[in-house]
Amino acid sequence: MEQQLWWQSGVIYQIYPRSFQDSNQDGVGDLRGILQRLDYLQSLGIKGVWISPVFNSPMADFGYDISDYKNIDPIFGDLSDFDELIQEIHRRDMKLILDLVPNHTSDQHPWFLESRSSKENPKRDWYIWKDALPDGSVPNNWLAMFGGTGWEWDEATQEYYYHAFLKEQPDLNWRNPEVQEAMMDVMRFWLDKGVDGFRVDVMWHMIKDANFRDNPVNPEYASHMATYNQLLPVYSTDQPEVHDIVYKMRSLLDEYEERMMIGEIYLPIRSLMSYYGSDNNGAHLPFNFLLLSLSWNTHQIAAAIAEYEAAIPAGGWPNWVLGNHDQPRIASRIGSEQAKVAAMLLLTLRGTPTIYYGDEIGMRDVPIPFEEVQDPQGLNMPDKNLSRDPARTPMPWDDSKNGGFTQGQPWLRLDKNYVAHNVSVQDKDPRSMLSLYKRLINLRQKEASLMSGQYIPVYTDQQIMVYIRHTDGEDRFMVILNLSHRPCYYNFPSSVNGTIELSTSPELEGERIKDKISLHGDEGIIIRLNN
Ligand code: GLC
Repeated sequence: MEQQLWWQSGVIYQIYPRSFQDSNQDGVGDLRGILQRLDYLQSLGIKGVWISPVFNSPMADFGYDISDYKNIDPIFGDLSDFDELIQEIHRRDMKLILDLVPNHTSDQHPWFLESRSSKENPKRDWYIWKDALPDGSVPNNWLAMFGGTGWEWDEATQEYYYHAFLKEQPDLNWRNPEVQEAMMDVMRFWLDKGVDGFRVDVMWHMIKDANFRDNPVNPEYASHMATYNQLLPVYSTDQPEVHDIVYKMRSLLDEYEERMMIGEIYLPIRSLMSYYGSDNNGAHLPFNFLLLSLSWNTHQIAAAIAEYEAAIPAGGWPNWVLGNHDQPRIASRIGSEQAKVAAMLLLTLRGTPTIYYGDEIGMRDVPIPFEEVQDPQGLNMPDKNLSRDPARTPMPWDDSKNGGFTQGQPWLRLDKNYVAHNVSVQDKDPRSMLSLYKRLINLRQKEASLMSGQYIPVYTDQQIMVYIRHTDGEDRFMVILNLSHRPCYYNFPSSVNGTIELSTSPELEGERIKDKISLHGDEGIIIRLNN
């Protein structure tokens, strides 16, 4: 078996820094807070720690609007805290992945301030400026993800600029070589500090159609959807030239040792695959968001896994994601019991799993009263229930005030149930979600078949999904997942027998299995096969 790289063999964990741990009692998490919790991540068995943006930002989009790419926002700490963080992460044999936001800057970034200062400014062409149409209207029909048109009128210089997200997040013009060089310089700055990889924000947005053609109407638009979905973003995203940019970023990473790049890309499987690059010279891991969008149904999921597996280019490495800071939490989507089955799925599929902070304790979406909504996506489209705040609430560590997250006033309220549902309580309970995650990660990291073996689908019906993971010369594992609340049986193909290695019901572990197995509702089982 080929030697695996750290981002292939290890598990990735996403921290949303505002909500992980506050160290200075201002109610917002910070880098020193993360430092305090590194032992926890290590005990969980995590390899790669991805932190959402911590750079200087006016926080219009909570850090995804950056005004200085080479500094830490004071709310999170400073560069010396960062240096300590990376050192402590490395000391624990873990890796640090930063969020790189190259598609757009803050409108307060000096580059944009210069760009908007006059049409003659040398940085004018660093952003996307266009004349109004003769009747004064916007240059084309492109829409912003967070509602309304993607064009903002600049009174002073009498042109529109394009923003795929908020008007406070103007898009950079990646066709300009100076922009490319400036962002490569940012990457070099962090790579030289020892950062192990980047998660590249909205990678598929980076280049737009050279002719700015109108996007076509989406025939499947329904009124509950974000207004952005009225059109199909055929000309504003996923342009062929984006791959040249990804390739440049990758080439830079390849000048360093064992650095990696994740691409945030919401596209259908076939288009997603192109982000691996024509010759595996693109993103190491184009994020696979299939499990975020499919309904929780055995046939759909099994079919999607098969399609994804079949589409991965030779030499490409798969990956799986169950949650992130933009999506409803898995435990709220499918229920706490099924979330255990989902954890088993995530950690037994072939490829790198990414865990969203708090999912390992089964955190649920927290209802945020309307007056407390922070997320611009929620505020801009108030009738559509699109606020991402519920999935971004502070981590409950124990039953002390504010779950031990902060002594101050938390920036978002915690789940009311934090006294019962927190890290410390779950750590002592062998049946908890946290214990399940730990056992699953531990097994995955110990067993070559689970870490890197083939994925072999065996059986799917209305209730269960069965597959085998196997690599030559190692034990085979059969995974049986009951995606329903009802009990059921699975009849083995005649020659199979084995021992339950791990189950969502720990008391079953060690039981020998032959011919037939009976499963509880919401149960997942991993069997070590004897033959
Ligand atoms: C990505 C981020 C999201 C952010 C958006 C704009 O999708 O994950 O949180 O709002 O980009 O930067």
